[in-house]
Amino acid sequence: MTKILKLDKKINSHNCKINVDGDKSLSIRWVLLASQAIGKSKASNLLMSEDVFAAIDCIKKMGIKVKINKNLCEVYGNGINGFKYKKNLILNAKNSGTLGRLILGLLIKTPYKIKLIGDKSLSMRDFSRVTMPLKKLGVKFYYKKKNKLPLSILGSKSVKNINYLENKGSAQCKSSMMLAALNASGKTSIKAKKSRNHSELLFKYLNIPIKMKITKKYDFIDIEKPKKIKAFDYQIPGDISSSAFFMVLTTLAGNSKLIIKNVNINPTRTGIITILKRMGAKILLKNKRSYRGEKISDILIKSSNNLKAINCPSNLNSSAIDEFLIIFLVAARANGISYFKNIAELNQKESKRLNWGSKILNMMGIKTELTKDSIKIHGQPNLKIKKPIIIKNYLKDHRIFMMGTIAALTFGGQWKIHDKDSINTSFPSFLKIIKKVNNNSL
Ligand code: S3P
Repeated sequence: MTKILKLDKKINSHNCKINVDGDKSLSIRWVLLASQAIGKSKASNLLMSEDVFAAIDCIKKMGIKVKINKNLCEVYGNGINGFKYKKNLILNAKNSGTLGRLILGLLIKTPYKIKLIGDKSLSMRDFSRVTMPLKKLGVKFYYKKKNKLPLSILGSKSVKNINYLENKGSAQCKSSMMLAALNASGKTSIKAKKSRNHSELLFKYLNIPIKMKITKKYDFIDIEKPKKIKAFDYQIPGDISSSAFFMVLTTLAGNSKLIIKNVNINPTRTGIITILKRMGAKILLKNKRSYRGEKISDILIKSSNNLKAINCPSNLNSSAIDEFLIIFLVAARANGISYFKNIAELNQKESKRLNWGSKILNMMGIKTELTKDSIKIHGQPNLKIKKPIIIKNYLKDHRIFMMGTIAALTFGGQWKIHDKDSINTSFPSFLKIIKKVNNNSL
């Protein structure tokens, strides 16, 4: 099967309803927390993607039984620190920064060295952001190449109180330390810059003693060691980061309407909606409900042909951190110059997304002004793509592939996008859903 996606036609005007795959952050957290619960936990609509399978493989390697049937998953947890540690264990986080970083928090008691490896992209990413704070607990780390995978972790016999200042706005760092708190004998106090709060909501739902004080810039989190975690069932809602590609597809398609059912609209993740609405997109949240602390709704999107540029406030960055690439496409269509600032973190993701975003826009004929931590995008509401575009060698970053696909389907032109299989990281149904939308033409 060819791994190159060739596109040379815009998407049809459409009117349909879709479901996107399960939320990646919640799926990985569910797998890891279920492994620490006692007995059988069940999840439905678990994201069946490579990142989540990697999480399942890691816990299986440490003695946890897992059964999978379609997108139903059962994890037979062994209690807190119930992993069966062995000598010469190697865990593979593959492409997943979330898995690689969170799982280290669960391993702080390992009596044997465990090696953590990842794919080419993950092996280029910084791990000191989690190993530095974990080191302060007496955990030892061994790197071959400074701060990069592969690394080995050797646990500490006893971890007492944890005090941690998380200053990057990274949910992965915060969550890694929260998982470490399950194995600390004293109290854990975390002061964390704003980031997604799924771990906190899950801890609360699981009756893990957690107190949160929320201020404008920081969240203060206190955790006491729980006696045990009860097994728990969970229905994973759709991923807003996957929905984002379809929000933009319909916004830019012209004369179209789309409903995305059952999406997690946790306010720490809805920056995309705020930003797109400010740019003139027509988005409505319908059928809002709560589920175990999370907020869920259907999202209705209508095409918009009057989009305006945005000077994006930095306080929206953390809640839109995975969506900037796709937001850049709306800026490309908007009237005026959009400005996104303080987004250097984008270059720390699966690929250098800030640089790649700019590069793809330039290939399309859009002028950008790029710095290390910002981009200005000169929108062209009537852009016609003149030269054929080839996207390759992007470290198989799933979001680059999907950005390219949506750009091709909304701006037209001739596109060849390599490494189609990159979608399996986070959104295996992506191309199937594109087909469905295209077949529901008006
Ligand atoms: C994630 C946190 C974010 C995000 C990533 C998923 C999580 O990363 O970009 O895709 O599930 O905790 P950072 O914690 O590095 O900001």
